[in-house]
Amino acid sequence: MVSEYEIKKQICDIGKRIYDRGMVAANDGNISVKISDNEFLCTPTGVSKGFMTPEYICKVDAKGNVIQANGNFKPSSEIKMHMRVYEQRPDVKSVVHAHPIYATSFAIAGIPLTQPIMPEAVIALGCVPIAEYGTPSTMEIPDAVEKYLPYFDAVLLANHGALAYSDSLLAAYHKMESLEFYAELLFKARQLGGPKELSNTQVERLYEIRRQFGLSGKHPADVCARNKNGETSCHNCGACNLPKTEASDSDLVAEITKKVLASLNK
Ligand code: 13P
Repeated sequence: MVSEYEIKKQICDIGKRIYDRGMVAANDGNISVKISDNEFLCTPTGVSKGFMTPEYICKVDAKGNVIQANGNFKPSSEIKMHMRVYEQRPDVKSVVHAHPIYATSFAIAGIPLTQPIMPEAVIALGCVPIAEYGTPSTMEIPDAVEKYLPYFDAVLLANHGALAYSDSLLAAYHKMESLEFYAELLFKARQLGGPKELSNTQVERLYEIRRQFGLSGKHPADVCARNKNGETSCHNCGACNLPKTEASDSDLVAEITKKVLASLNK
């Protein structure tokens, strides 16, 4: 089994990678790893993720409360966003949040990454929606990303950055890297007159390859509502096809019941 110290070192390595690749500026970004059902390692708030040593890494419980932290280090101000991912996606073992230039530019322009332009991006990422804007460090961001979590392994955060998660730290980092590479290609192709998109049939064949590989995570190839209805995926479900969540249905039923009871009591 990999020791906790080893995982802390790996978090520092990935922190250096995202910093060196310009995916974060100054003290931006945060990383976490699930080590047990109620124990998570995370980067501290307010430090450059490019210069961390294992002593910097904090340990929190599933509610984001500190279990262990050295000196003045406190867990990332965005820990609640990470915890919402773990809560909604038991398959996820690591979460990476960064502000890569191209992906964040799309998030600022309000353009989701949904154009099918190259096979690797279609297979690895599917499409990447934009979660509504929320103030960093508040519950607004976890609340905004929640509805996308069952359907996507990466989400842009409006006017802010990107969130990627997977079943290992390296896989979560790779998702972030693929997302940024895809955003850069899309940006440059748009400058060259616009990308020639893959056709629905070509996309469907790539989805089939992904299914054959049995890749983990959530992807339109497996969860797209249109696909499930036997239709061709538009590869453009920047949430247009998200089914209503159970929570919103039950909220509605509760609201109607309340109104009926109130009118009976009049
Ligand atoms: P932390 O340093 O608190 O993790 O915050 C960095 C960040 O990028 C907030 O969005």
